[in-house]
Amino acid sequence: MTSAASSSPQAGAIGASLSNMLDEVEAQFTLSKDKLLELTHHFSELYTYGLGVKGADMPMIPSFVTGLPDGKEKGTFLAMDLGGTNLRVCEVKLKGDHTFEIRQQKYRVSDALKKGPVADLFEYMAESVERFLNEFGTETDAGEDELLMGFTFSFPVEQTTIDRGALLFWTKGFNCPDAPGKDVVQLLQNALDKKHIKVRVNALVNDTVGTLLTRSYQTGGAILGAIFGTGTNGAYLESIERIKKIKVSSQGQAGPTHMVINTEWGSFDNARTVLPTTQFDNFVDRTALRQRHHLFEKMISGMYLGEVARAVIIYLIDNLVLFSGFSSATLNTQYGLDTAYMSMIEADIDNGNPTSGSNGTREVLTQKLGLRAEHVSDVDVETVRRIVRFVGTRAARLSATAVAGTLIHTGNIQDDGTGKQVNVGVDGSLAELYPHFEERMRIALRDIVGEDAEKRVKFGLAKDGSGVGAALGAAAAKKQRTAGHRVEAN
Ligand code: GLC
Repeated sequence: MTSAASSSPQAGAIGASLSNMLDEVEAQFTLSKDKLLELTHHFSELYTYGLGVKGADMPMIPSFVTGLPDGKEKGTFLAMDLGGTNLRVCEVKLKGDHTFEIRQQKYRVSDALKKGPVADLFEYMAESVERFLNEFGTETDAGEDELLMGFTFSFPVEQTTIDRGALLFWTKGFNCPDAPGKDVVQLLQNALDKKHIKVRVNALVNDTVGTLLTRSYQTGGAILGAIFGTGTNGAYLESIERIKKIKVSSQGQAGPTHMVINTEWGSFDNARTVLPTTQFDNFVDRTALRQRHHLFEKMISGMYLGEVARAVIIYLIDNLVLFSGFSSATLNTQYGLDTAYMSMIEADIDNGNPTSGSNGTREVLTQKLGLRAEHVSDVDVETVRRIVRFVGTRAARLSATAVAGTLIHTGNIQDDGTGKQVNVGVDGSLAELYPHFEERMRIALRDIVGEDAEKRVKFGLAKDGSGVGAALGAAAAKKQRTAGHRVEAN
């Protein structure tokens, strides 16, 4: 590789070294079919391992949700959704015919709340519920004298029942230091009780579990619920026999046969046995809140993709082959390159705008990232577009290995001769908004499982999955309770 010291100030020489360097970096981001297959295979191994062993890196968390909705569920439930940029309070009416009505309000979660004492965060959540109820009012579900609330908490928790779970560790930039180990349902209930808000939290679900439940409710059945947003993760229905690490009891009754598992695939291969991490991923990891954790997520999700692209861009700047060696305050700031800017650049490429003159990429570089116009050449515009494309493409191809790994593990990818559809519910900003995400994921899926199988996979956006999923969780918990059928680990 040409080093910074040896790169000559003459334009021709810079052109050549840029091209070499870019080729070399792009090669590190390119995943061959063999690599995809290797990753997918490792998924199966880690799934089996995590189902058998408590405390595995990829934790495979039992959710105590023991079946999937068929669309006939009815009732009115509140939902609290915490896990990304905002928290949401919702009221969800399940109408029993695959449809629902939702009223919701978003409340911003400040950085101080994300990283301060956990009591402050939960007090703010209770306050938001109070504001929501004051504004919207709501009705209790049939036969209940208090409002029931499902809690979508999109972080890894060790659950012991459907309404109990201790936080294992934070992800996605949250870091209240005194929270790990605490029961998050208890924290929310205490905060509500303190304010005399008559709401009972009766279910705890991860957003992926919520997405799976929502997609099942809408379509009558789904195999996988996946989030590609600020973070990434997946949930699927597992046979209890295979969840060797827990014994499930249900108060003397014939026990359930299946349980939804929250895989926490963001932690896939933290050991980096097969994960093709680059020096840029190492940079992102080293400067993140939690090192050597959720490495797969750091290569895929909306919170980190911009940071990966930023790492590549800074590297080329420091080697004097991009922007004539000049950076900007925003580009020098951690997380200064928002993944939404990558979406804008991908859309600019799609618009077919030339690199010269004004175009979306140049606007992002000068207006959003604060680079000086005279430092942004046409070649620089082309270079940045290429970086964005290969970082975004790798994310989609890695995502495909998680999807394929799950479908293979559950035995749903093999054609049983009926050509049945394999229904996957997805949610999250990347899935919804990032150009070509699904298309690129599909190309990789085809590499892994073949064209026939890939065609049978149907991705459906489970919009509002976290809110509706919490309500479906609350409905499932109510059903377990009324049937005297509380399912717990022992
Ligand atoms: C992170 C969390 C996980 C969540 C995912 C998507 O990976 O650990 O629980 O499902 O983000 O929000």
